[in-house]
Amino acid sequence: MKQQVNQNQIIDKTRAFIMEKLAPDPTGHDFHHAFRVARTALHIASAEENPDLFIIELAALLHDIADWKFHDGDEDLGVKLAYNWLRNAGASESDSEKTAAIIKKISFKGAFVNSVPESLEGKIVQDADRLDALGAIGIARAFSYGGFKRNLMYDPDLPPVLHHDAESYKNSRSTTVNHFHEKMLLLKDRMNTAEGRRLAEERHRFLELYLTQFHREWNGENS
Ligand code: NI
Repeated sequence: MKQQVNQNQIIDKTRAFIMEKLAPDPTGHDFHHAFRVARTALHIASAEENPDLFIIELAALLHDIADWKFHDGDEDLGVKLAYNWLRNAGASESDSEKTAAIIKKISFKGAFVNSVPESLEGKIVQDADRLDALGAIGIARAFSYGGFKRNLMYDPDLPPVLHHDAESYKNSRSTTVNHFHEKMLLLKDRMNTAEGRRLAEERHRFLELYLTQFHREWNGENS
């Protein structure tokens, strides 16, 4: 019982920390994203056998303070930040290590770059993070991120590229519609869990519907 209270306190502190840390983020990675990922991850976890819910919630809340796209090549910086935060908040060394290991593996680094966490908890959080890049919210986040990167929303003369390494994925010029093809539409085939896959298929269909309508309007098809 005592440990339970302690875990809840660590979760509460971590939520407050994330609200402060990710509040001003204009790229679709604000704290609401972290909270949605935590909620979806706990939902996916309920269909799995005995995952550690404490680790899942911590990793989901903290996963984007380590986002490699925002740390100029030093992805370990965010991982260390998460680890130190957890130790200071009172998490055990083992729980802090497990959480940090998940965060290190989680983000999408290009079409041909596969990075899957070893633990069940990590696989669940990765699925939840990917689900937030799909569906209506995924579309909204993609256009926010594109605006932040000063990308065009669409350019018919710039075809999508499937990136073979993380560097070229991060640095190449693209459009938000290309981002659908370079990342978002690839995600449903990379889900780790059955429930993640089911939800991804649903949200994937919505992306396809959206793109069809987008191109209809772009091409001036009015009937
Ligand atoms: Ni994320």
